[in-house]
Amino acid sequence: MVPPKYLSCIKCLVVASGIAVAAGVAFIYSGLYPMAADDRHTALTYWALETLRERSINRASAGIDVPADLDIPERLLAGGADYNDMCVGCHLKPGKTESDFTLGLYPVPPNLAQPQRGEVDLEARAQRRFWVIKHGIKASGMPAWGLEHDDERIWNMVAFLRRLPSLSPEQYQILTARGSTNSDHH
Ligand code: HEC
Repeated sequence: MVPPKYLSCIKCLVVASGIAVAAGVAFIYSGLYPMAADDRHTALTYWALETLRERSINRASAGIDVPADLDIPERLLAGGADYNDMCVGCHLKPGKTESDFTLGLYPVPPNLAQPQRGEVDLEARAQRRFWVIKHGIKASGMPAWGLEHDDERIWNMVAFLRRLPSLSPEQYQILTARGSTNSDHH
């Protein structure tokens, strides 16, 4: 099929890609790649990882149905108490701008008590947050909460996250207090 004059060229390409793969494997075994969390990524690695993450989450979360009653107070209260139990150490709260986790983890957990800059598509953001909370993010500190918590509970936290940036420290305190009827937080 291939004309003979192209054959040597193809052989050459096969050998070259073999060498590239061998060099890649040798690099992995060499131990030269810096794995420390306090040694930041190069711009290229950062771009590759961020693009991989964003494209993947967008694709996986696009078809999720957002509950129509996301903004009801019951969700807000239940989600607030769970957030305060499980998330605040990494994602902060009004009046708190850093913690051991935000200083030491890499990638750094985003401050979810801060308003997002720029245009926000509320529907897409709710889908994205639900997916991330349920499934977690590989090779980061973000755990998958869906293994132990049902979808309703996760939507309640998504509901709470909508309000979180507009709360004062006092409002946060009140909204996240766990009532006596709802202490089954594990
Ligand atoms: C041990 C730290 C840690 C805990 C606890 C944690 N997270 Fe995360 N979370 C992370 C990190 C780190 C990221 C960012 C990962 C990345 O950039 O790849 C993240 C990302 C997220 C995002 C995505 C933000 C965005 O849109 O980019 C959401 C939403 C989120 N977490 C919600 C939660 C909720 C809700 C809880 C509690 C149920 C929680 N997280 C608990 C570390 C944590």
